[in-house]
Amino acid sequence: MRPMLTRRAVTRSALTLLLASATVFSLGACKGKGKGKEDATGPIKIGHYASMTGSEATFGRSTDNGIKLAVEEQNAKGGVKGRKISLITYDNQGKPDETVTAVTRLIDSDKVVALLGEVASSRSLAGGPVAQRKGVPMISPSSTNPDVTAIGDMIFRVCFIDEFQGKAGAKFILEDLKLKRGATLYNRAQAYSSGLNGFFVDAFKAMGGEIVTQQAFSDGDNDFGAQLAAIRDAGVDFIYVPGYYTEVVNIAGQARRLGLTIPLIGGDGWDSAELANAGDALNNCYFTNHYSHEDQRPEVQAFVKKYQSTYGSVPDGLAALGYDAAMLLFDAMERAPSLDGKDLAGAIAATKGFAGVTGSITIDANRNAAKSIVVLEVVNGAPKFRANVNVGP
Ligand code: PHE
Repeated sequence: MRPMLTRRAVTRSALTLLLASATVFSLGACKGKGKGKEDATGPIKIGHYASMTGSEATFGRSTDNGIKLAVEEQNAKGGVKGRKISLITYDNQGKPDETVTAVTRLIDSDKVVALLGEVASSRSLAGGPVAQRKGVPMISPSSTNPDVTAIGDMIFRVCFIDEFQGKAGAKFILEDLKLKRGATLYNRAQAYSSGLNGFFVDAFKAMGGEIVTQQAFSDGDNDFGAQLAAIRDAGVDFIYVPGYYTEVVNIAGQARRLGLTIPLIGGDGWDSAELANAGDALNNCYFTNHYSHEDQRPEVQAFVKKYQSTYGSVPDGLAALGYDAAMLLFDAMERAPSLDGKDLAGAIAATKGFAGVTGSITIDANRNAAKSIVVLEVVNGAPKFRANVNVGP
């Protein structure tokens, strides 16, 4: 069985990492000193803003673990431009307003030269405008909504976008599962969920499938009875659920109790060890994702081994993307003529064929990355590699 994401097996090396970086779990009162230059003599500061607590806590924690491994690895090689890297992480509790506070503090008080974050698209859409306005480059490891990088020339990502992910899901359902009649159930309050729902529905219809009903819910909802009853009455072959893992676990349990045994299929937002909380309710269910820990490429296996020996759990896609975002940032810092926002953004934008754990990363003209996509099957709560999907550019 896949080890759960807990601190049970925290090794000495993980403790060293925890001590080496300043993880701040709450944002107390802070007096911003306004924008200023970084101190060019000490370590290079980078900021991570993340959901370390709340209903998407594994997103922030896994990402932070991945980033810390990258920082440790880079520092062991001598850092960047002869200086050590120092990571400052703030918890936004999964809230947009806390996100703005965290990003503002990282830039104005801590004077970070770059930001990593967020996972959830709605929170990248809250933090991104602050980074853009203050001229500090930001790399989202895993926000897939197209609007995130459209914020401006300081905002990048190292993952694919949802138009591609929606198409890949549609193709897998029609061609691999051979299911033609579906319903969707999505969170209208999350940019990711509503965006991916739309991209999926458009692609599924364009490929000849039928979507009988689209049901929605909102942040914090945990009773999906009315929506699931409507879906049951519609008589469909599957439900597409482009949500986050906490929602998916609840939806799966409630669907099974209502007697709905059809597969649920979703996207990367499912990626969490907490899917195990659904027990067998998610068997015969699938989601599109950025990576599989079973991928035998040497980059993947080296990362999985290192992560497991440090944290005692199998890295999910968030951990891999956090690691890749940080490593790509260090590579760009080394190439940048200076660490000023414009110079650094220019170096990130020029990244080509960077060998990441999640695949080769080339930053395109829209500051996005074209990446490969996998389908994972949930087997007793653990993700198993099921298929690679090619949907073209
Ligand atoms: N893609 C999701 C979003 O944009 C976040 C996510 C990425 C969640 C990867 C899980 C794994 O909100």
